[in-house]
Amino acid sequence: MTNPAVAVHGLTKIFPVPFHRQSIVAVKDLNLRIDPGEVYGLLGPNGSGKSTTLKIILGLVSPTRGRTEIFGGDSRLVESREAVGFLPENPYFQKFLTGEETLHFFGRLCGLRGAALKNRVNELLRLVRLDRARNRRLGTYSKGMLQRIGLAQALIHDPRLVVLDEPTAGVDPAGSREIRDLILNLKERGITVLLSSHLLAQAQEICDRVGILADGVLVREGHLQELIAIENQTELVVADASDELVRDIESLLSRSNAKLIERRKSTTTLERLFLEATKNDEGTTKQK
Ligand SMILES: Nc1ncnc2c1ncn2[C@@H]1O[C@H](COP(=O)(O)OP(=O)(O)OP(=O)(O)O)[C@@H](O)[C@H]1O
Ligand SMILES: [Mg+2]
Repeated sequence: MTNPAVAVHGLTKIFPVPFHRQSIVAVKDLNLRIDPGEVYGLLGPNGSGKSTTLKIILGLVSPTRGRTEIFGGDSRLVESREAVGFLPENPYFQKFLTGEETLHFFGRLCGLRGAALKNRVNELLRLVRLDRARNRRLGTYSKGMLQRIGLAQALIHDPRLVVLDEPTAGVDPAGSREIRDLILNLKERGITVLLSSHLLAQAQEICDRVGILADGVLVREGHLQELIAIENQTELVVADASDELVRDIESLLSRSNAKLIERRKSTTTLERLFLEATKNDEGTTKQK
């Protein structure tokens, strides 16, 4: 049996509050298993324990109880983390470095040198569509550009697992869509992705499975389509139906035990509407 990409066993994290008797239970008896190649979304409102869980999985915060593993190795061991790339919630970059210099810096930290480093930096700048901005200082980058350089940084050493804490925080819909496409591209290449988000619509589009945290407790888990399906309801979307046909369908329903709950025009999502409305002549969305 292959090892899971991530395994979390009975994880609890309690933060003591100095000079107070109470403490904060950030994560409570959490169990997770993420298979290689999966895109898994850890969802939950602010303060529900998403970042704490991710940091423990990455070995950056120690658990109070329980243990976490990456590809079968204990998270606390440096060698377990070699296969992992991480985009933190608030990535800290040197604003005076250019995009290219930033990736060079992280590449050298990961032991890349010479032509291999140069090629990898070029490849990643193309992947995150920052090759034209490669010589600009990060101080002049927009939020979306910073997230994309952060994603490139997380990928520099070709990790098997990528952990992304709120990858689209503060990014507009077009930028979010680009990040979503990058994540789908990672999935196609067999890379496991563990991300946190409180944007449910986005998670819906990219995650194979999601877990929902509330106050540090996993309250739901599964395939998103199954989680959001309303078991006893079926939607029919019909194009080119005459009024008569619709009346016939309704009268057929009225003769059975089934109830017509809603009849409405199909709608697009607000995100798609926004993207259509802000498109330029070449069909790409206006943005830097
Ligand atoms: N270093 C810390 N010391 C004390 N309490 C902490 C610490 N880190 C997190 N917490 C607390 O643990 C709880 C979970 O925080 P966490 O950052 O994991 O939530 P989150 O789900 O990532 O939230 P957000 O959506 O705002 O990023 C919160 O109550 C937070 O205040
Ligand atoms: Mg967080």
